[in-house]
Amino acid sequence: MFVHLDNVKKSYETGEVSTTVLKGVGMELDKGEVGVILGPSGSGKSTLLNILGGIDRANSGKVTVGGIDVTGLDDNQLVEYRREHVGFIFQFYNLIPNLTVGENVEIVSNISKSPLEIDKVLKAVGMLDKKSRFPRELSGGEQQRVSIARAVVKNPNLLLCDEPTGALDFNTSRDILKLLQQINKDYGTTILMITHNTAISAMANRVYKVRSGEVIEKNVNETVVPAERIEW
Ligand SMILES: Nc1ncnc2c1ncn2[C@@H]1O[C@H](COP(=O)(O)OP(=O)(O)OP(=O)(O)O)[C@@H](O)[C@H]1O
Ligand SMILES: [Mg+2]
Repeated sequence: MFVHLDNVKKSYETGEVSTTVLKGVGMELDKGEVGVILGPSGSGKSTLLNILGGIDRANSGKVTVGGIDVTGLDDNQLVEYRREHVGFIFQFYNLIPNLTVGENVEIVSNISKSPLEIDKVLKAVGMLDKKSRFPRELSGGEQQRVSIARAVVKNPNLLLCDEPTGALDFNTSRDILKLLQQINKDYGTTILMITHNTAISAMANRVYKVRSGEVIEKNVNETVVPAERIEW
């Protein structure tokens, strides 16, 4: 398995109170697959994705990505792992406001070992003609396209998406999902996506339902539905 989480546990200490957020999560994804994580607010989805992306650390259990034991990396190695292997797409874009579209993508490309061509990626997300614009001059869907370009330009093995369509309307959401599916197809990028929207699970190879820090259901889809046919 390309992505493998085994008995991952995580708790946060705030003052004297300890909150257990992940209670032994297991998850698997083959190379080139799309996975969807569903679950209510506060169930630990973002925490899980952050641990997988090397932004946060598990307390115990094991996380491997493409043969790398992520849980065994020290801080410097984690930075390198994030830089080389992981693309992250956030719900609220996180673009740098005083940089243009092109520059937002370029700063990631500059620190990557084998980046894709900036213009090619901007073209793929339909933003090449707006390369010189600033984020404030873009719609929400366009900003999300740029944030996808920024995550994809480094040519990551693993693309992690934390509610990439959470802030978008139906049509724009579907365009973004189509784009993610296209990237998965064109570059063979393994994608793991968090969503509140059950309908989106139709485009995944594997679906994980999480509740209160536990995986309560795992499904493998025999057929994957094209994003343009998903309705909600
Ligand atoms: N840094 C932190 N310190 C303390 N508690 C935290 C921290 N990060 C998350 N939590 C708690 O962990 C639980 C799970 O949070 P998480 O962000 O993973 O949920 P989620 O499933 O992504 O929810 P949502 O759908 O609302 O984004 C929540 O109860 C949250 O308050
Ligand atoms: Mg979250």
